[in-house]
Amino acid sequence: MTGTAIDFSKRLDQTAEDTEALLARLLADAPLPDEIVRPKRLIEAMRYSSLGGGKRLRPFLVVESAAAFGVAREAALLAGAALECIHCYSLIHDDLPAMDNSDLRRGRPTLHKAYDDATAILAGDALLTLAFDIITRDEIHKDANVRLLLTRALARAAGIGGMAGGQMLDLAGEGRFGDREPVDVARLQQMKTGALLRYGCIAGAILGQSSQKEYQALDDYGRALGEAFQIADDLLDVEGDATALGKQTGQDAALGKTTFVTQLGIEGAKKRVGDLLARADAALSIFGAKGDVLRAAARFVADRKN
Ligand code: IPE
Ligand code: IPE
Ligand code: MG
Ligand code: MG
Ligand code: MG
Repeated sequence: MTGTAIDFSKRLDQTAEDTEALLARLLADAPLPDEIVRPKRLIEAMRYSSLGGGKRLRPFLVVESAAAFGVAREAALLAGAALECIHCYSLIHDDLPAMDNSDLRRGRPTLHKAYDDATAILAGDALLTLAFDIITRDEIHKDANVRLLLTRALARAAGIGGMAGGQMLDLAGEGRFGDREPVDVARLQQMKTGALLRYGCIAGAILGQSSQKEYQALDDYGRALGEAFQIADDLLDVEGDATALGKQTGQDAALGKTTFVTQLGIEGAKKRVGDLLARADAALSIFGAKGDVLRAAARFVADRKN
């Protein structure tokens, strides 16, 4: 491993550890002011799906993009935890029988298998809502306008024109709701997966009150990384090892999903990942050496085995 690669994996591990500790605190039993009670089964289900696993790549992107502007780590970690709550909710719902019907996630039974469908739906709902509680907290930034921008961007990344909308396109692409229509895979993936990853990158620019040029650079980087991430996920579904992945493989073919692997073949999809890596690299040029960790993050996304 090169020096940057060692530094990268140390930093990713540290952010994962810090995020884990923060989420554990946010998912405490005690209700917050204005909450009434946190039902035991629901909070335990939320913990089951948000603690003890996951690469924590989205919080890492927030922390590292924010670091480029000297933002306090604690604030970036909190914004990262909000994003991770939305990610965990998206996984819980993605795995439900009515969606991808998956039995395994992060090496353990999926939430609806360990609990039941209703609990999984509610744990997802509550994680989504908790994310907005977190992202609006005073500790995120002293300027309420910055918090507003972060909150609005998060809503747009997660909602109808972002992740949730992309999940709709993903299911429609299977032909579930009538005839199979031609699928714009790039758009579908940009929404279902890219939007939250891109948010991780622009969140740092918003927190750091960056220049427009710097925001644009992180936006471009985040889009390229987001697309590369989902293509790598689709390749892993075909070529990956279920034990290393902690989730079943072969699911996309079984469900009839359209991906870049079905459209371009394995080699074509890998070439596209390579092109996206180059795009991600180029986008970071204005940051010079300060962009090295994010450059390593893009390579990690492309080469990962889980
Ligand atoms: C999996 O995301 C779901 C997709 C968006 C493809 P990750 O691979 O980041 O999952 P965790 O958080 O590490 O488990
Ligand atoms: C999931 O995409 C994207 C979201 C959860 C929003 P996939 O369905 O491909 O993710 P995995 O493979 O189940 O992790
Ligand atoms: Mg899915
Ligand atoms: Mg799935
Ligand atoms: Mg997948």
